[in-house]
Amino acid sequence: MTSTIGRQPSRWLKSTIPLLLASSRLCSAGALYSTYTFDPLEHLGGVAPYFEPQDPPSSPASPQGCTPVRAAYLSRHAAIYANDYDFEEYIEPFTSKVANLTSIDWTKIPALNFLAGWSPPFTAAEQELLTRVGKVEASQLGTVLSFRYPNLRLPTHVWTSSAERTFKSAQSFVRGLETDDNGINVISIYESKEAGADTLTPYKSCPAYSSSAGSDQSGVFLERFTKPIIARLNAAAPEFNFTANDIYGMMELCGYESVIRGSSPFCDLDLFTPDDWLGWEYTADIQYHYNVGYGNRASGPVGLPWFNASANLLLDNAPTDLDLYVSFTHRELPPMVFVAMGLFNNSDFGGSASAINDTMPLDRINYRRAWKSSHILPFLGNLAIERLNCSGSPGFADGDYYRVLANSAPQPLPLCADGPGTSCSRAGFEAYVRERSDLFAGYSEKCGVDYDNTTDTLTIYTDPGVGNGTAVGKREVAQFTENDFAMN
Ligand SMILES: *[C@@H]1O[C@H](CO)[C@@H](O)[C@H](O)[C@H]1NC(C)=O
Ligand SMILES: *[C@@H]1O[C@H](CO)[C@@H](O)[C@H](O)[C@H]1NC(C)=O
Ligand SMILES: *[C@@H]1O[C@H](CO)[C@@H](O)[C@H](O)[C@H]1NC(C)=O
Ligand SMILES: *[C@@H]1O[C@H](CO)[C@@H](O)[C@H](O)[C@H]1NC(C)=O
Ligand SMILES: *[C@@H]1O[C@H](CO)[C@@H](O)[C@H](O)[C@H]1NC(C)=O
Ligand SMILES: *[C@@H]1O[C@H](CO)[C@@H](O)[C@H](O)[C@H]1NC(C)=O
Ligand SMILES: *[C@@H]1O[C@H](CO)[C@@H](O)[C@H](O)[C@H]1NC(C)=O
Ligand SMILES: *[C@@H]1O[C@H](CO)[C@@H](O)[C@H](O)[C@H]1NC(C)=O
Repeated sequence: MTSTIGRQPSRWLKSTIPLLLASSRLCSAGALYSTYTFDPLEHLGGVAPYFEPQDPPSSPASPQGCTPVRAAYLSRHAAIYANDYDFEEYIEPFTSKVANLTSIDWTKIPALNFLAGWSPPFTAAEQELLTRVGKVEASQLGTVLSFRYPNLRLPTHVWTSSAERTFKSAQSFVRGLETDDNGINVISIYESKEAGADTLTPYKSCPAYSSSAGSDQSGVFLERFTKPIIARLNAAAPEFNFTANDIYGMMELCGYESVIRGSSPFCDLDLFTPDDWLGWEYTADIQYHYNVGYGNRASGPVGLPWFNASANLLLDNAPTDLDLYVSFTHRELPPMVFVAMGLFNNSDFGGSASAINDTMPLDRINYRRAWKSSHILPFLGNLAIERLNCSGSPGFADGDYYRVLANSAPQPLPLCADGPGTSCSRAGFEAYVRERSDLFAGYSEKCGVDYDNTTDTLTIYTDPGVGNGTAVGKREVAQFTENDFAMN
């Protein structure tokens, strides 16, 4: 992971200023002997354990002279045992084949000999549940936010969509953030298919959204990248007859087994090479591009209500109930909010909106893409909008500025860059929110809503009708009823 680019002294420097070099960190012996390293866990899209890629590498610290005074967070739930679709489509067929084909002597097959003593890390009953790692990481995020915002009041409540894995992520988050038992409530928002935009799962109530969008396109690249892997593994274990779905499932097991058992033999680079992992990652990125990204016309309209509601809470000149608004949802919503915000757009610096699908070709990898699902939606993947109070920031007028973070990395908003660091002025941000609203307003119409009683706005943050939720004790005990997290 350690890149040496930029740290190698140029020839000119070497010959002309050796004395300067001798004392400078440009002269790094490490550069000569550095070795290539690669971590598959950072290329696993929606199955990647939480990590912070710092992409771009600008500092997460507030710019000089600026203090966060309000923030809104949207987080995917933390690590789970296995998504039901992944389990049924890719993992279970593979593990049941392993169990059935008892005639294969795995001990004689080098990269796969671990299969001789391997058992799957989960049962069907554990599907979708949060793992221990997930609980710890969600709590850690709570503590990290207390470090990041020492001046903000602790929230009295956080919001979550109603599935068990999001509800429990919110509870674990609260345990890491609250200082005393029962200090913060969790409010559950039902994952209704008819809630219009007024939910934390607005894609579920959007008929224009289909959960299988992107399967056809990603299937094309799946066949392509697994072909040589299948040839290699079938040469080693012909009886097994590896399929493209087996390979995809084995690679997913690297992520799932890691967040369940702490490590996984499927991550071994002798089994799958870095290029294999990059092929897996690109397959997932194609899927998310067409499913929740710029390749789906529903993404912006579904993501806008959260962006608009949160931006308006942060723009409000009057004091708000909370300084910190935190919500938990599933993997679909944060990327759709990024589209509504105009972030991770492959065409941002050139290219027309109509050519966006050309930026994700199906016959080769676009390595330079901005749209990388591993960086956007790992387990616990989160995004934030911050309101900064800047005074005496060199070169900038005193006042309010706004900044967006993705997994703690500051993200400059396109055409909204008139503040210190990656931030944008109040006037600039107001105009930006208006422009994005003009592009994507009209949730119900753009979603082709076919039920009555829809709404285009998200009001849960100010609507007393959502109730006060339930308190969260520091210890994990059942303090909720079945209704608190009706499964979807
Ligand atoms: C494994 O065997 C079981 C029981 O005979 C069968 O139901 C299942 O379809 C088999 N799985 C595969 C992947 O062949
Ligand atoms: C191998 O799997 C493929 C795809 O599932 C199937 O079409 C083919 O018949 C299988 N071949 C053998 C020898 O089992
Ligand atoms: C992506 O960037 C292109 C080029 O700047 C722009 O035309 C397009 O509107 C952007 N897409 C979205 C959804 O913001
Ligand atoms: C990209 O592809 C999707 C799926 O085929 C299509 O619905 C969408 O209109 C395309 N986007 C553009 C800008 O052409
Ligand atoms: C912003 O900072 C200024 C100068 O430090 C201070 O007077 C003002 O009260 C702050 N505003 C908020 C909302 O914190
Ligand atoms: C944005 O939020 C404001 C304030 O809540 C609301 O009045 C407006 O209708 C919303 N606009 C859109 C496009 O959702
Ligand atoms: C939709 O119906 C529910 C009751 O089913 C009601 O509480 C809510 O106010 C209605 N929403 C709108 C936007 O009319
Ligand atoms: C929520 O809490 C507020 C303030 O403590 C209280 O006035 C209100 O009645 C509570 N609402 C519900 C639905 O319990």
